[in-house]
Amino acid sequence: MTHFSAVVLVLASSLLHCIEAQWQTCDAGFSFSATGMARNITHCRRLRTLGAELGMNYYNTTPNSTVDVVFSARLPTPQGWIAWGINPGRHPQMVGTRALIAFNRPSGMPMVGTYNVTADTRRGCKLEPSPIEVGVVNKEANYSGETGRLTMAARLTLPPEYNVSRLNHVWQVGPRVADMVPSAHARTLQNFDSTETIDLSSGVGHSRRHYNLGLREAHGILSVIGWGFLLPIGVIVSRYFRGSPIDSKMTWFYVHVTIQIVAFSIGVTAWGIGLSLMERSKRYRAFMGHRIIGILVVCLASLQMMALWLKPKRADKYRKYWNIYHHFVGYSLIALIIVNIFKGFAILKPPSGWKWAYIGILISLSCVALGLEISIWVKFYWNQKAEQQKASNLSKTSKS
Ligand SMILES: *[C@@H]1O[C@H](CO)[C@@H](O)[C@H](O)[C@H]1NC(C)=O
Ligand SMILES: *[C@@H]1O[C@H](CO)[C@@H](O)[C@H](O)[C@H]1NC(C)=O
Ligand SMILES: *[C@@H]1O[C@H](CO)[C@@H](O)[C@H](O)[C@H]1NC(C)=O
Ligand SMILES: *[C@@H]1O[C@H](CO)[C@@H](O)[C@H](O)[C@H]1NC(C)=O
Ligand SMILES: *[C@@H]1O[C@H](CO)[C@@H](O)[C@H](O)[C@H]1NC(C)=O
Repeated sequence: MTHFSAVVLVLASSLLHCIEAQWQTCDAGFSFSATGMARNITHCRRLRTLGAELGMNYYNTTPNSTVDVVFSARLPTPQGWIAWGINPGRHPQMVGTRALIAFNRPSGMPMVGTYNVTADTRRGCKLEPSPIEVGVVNKEANYSGETGRLTMAARLTLPPEYNVSRLNHVWQVGPRVADMVPSAHARTLQNFDSTETIDLSSGVGHSRRHYNLGLREAHGILSVIGWGFLLPIGVIVSRYFRGSPIDSKMTWFYVHVTIQIVAFSIGVTAWGIGLSLMERSKRYRAFMGHRIIGILVVCLASLQMMALWLKPKRADKYRKYWNIYHHFVGYSLIALIIVNIFKGFAILKPPSGWKWAYIGILISLSCVALGLEISIWVKFYWNQKAEQQKASNLSKTSKS
């Protein structure tokens, strides 16, 4: 167990890590230098999600500072929208963002509007174009059908109360726009991860982000080890080594119980990490299926652990029914776990090697189980045959 705690600690410590993303000079690698909209942009960066790129030039003017901004992202559909905005609130988040949203009009000409994103927007109210406190001039957008990228540019004047050394900015893309009202964006991790805090005042500007990639990985790895690997092994031990003639001391039972206790501890640790990850996305009701199955898994596994105290004695007449119940819950648990691990892969989208490694583990476990199952049946068959032989021999000798 101490090993696993160490793994969790190491991974968790990356939570407190700040990544400093460096700005680069805007060269031809950035899509908006190809759309003729680079303007007087001196610093460019690829943002970490949604294939977004941001370029800006900061002018330390008083009383309001001025920023030229170019933002570009790939549209999910040609009828979709891209958004970039700054949030004067304390956290880099969607609610409270003063946003620029660009989309293709039905006529084909792209346009840029200003939107004040409020808590009502998250509740599902229509997001209508509205004035924002930030001054916006020289808005412009350009769509490239070839690359599917929409690019927008504007000059912003920030009110003095916006702290340019700690500016929260967020970006997003969505699939549709109706009557200048953008539809809700998808609810993948990428869509939730598209926020940052940047520092414009140093002229160059760094970007810092607090990120919980380490915790996500810890959740995934511990879930696979505990629920997805050890727990099925514990089941295999009880199914195939129980009552084995080589095992007169009931070793199988102690091995089964030990493996399941370790699997449960690791699995519950993974679940706890999962709960802490949900803190941020729970307001969006995202990943509901994964969360509900996760809760079911923990409840059923806890029920199974109760077997340690509640199991009827061997001689008890209910013992037979209890065994059926314990096995039924156990197999259902494994089915739920496998479904949820694949749901987890779909959410986290790790490099595909992880998923294939787990599929490999599942296939190996199934092969082991199948082999043991066949050996049980073969043994059963030979025992039967031997007994028949004995019986017919007996009847022969009694006749003669
Ligand atoms: C977009 O940029 C390209 C490249 O400069 C230009 O040819 C095109 O006219 C622009 N389109 C719009 C709609 O501004
Ligand atoms: C672009 O910015 C540089 C330095 O900030 C300035 O000297 C130049 O005049 C600007 N050019 C335009 C076209 O605004
Ligand atoms: C934008 O919404 C915020 C609430 O989130 C509100 O305080 C602010 O006054 C609004 N701005 C404008 C220009 O309506
Ligand atoms: C810029 O500053 C002046 C003076 O404080 C203010 O009246 C004006 O509204 C500000 N403009 C913007 C776009 O914030
Ligand atoms: C702006 O942010 C910086 C860095 O977090 C902080 O030191 C400074 O006090 C802030 N200024 C204001 C006016 O809030």
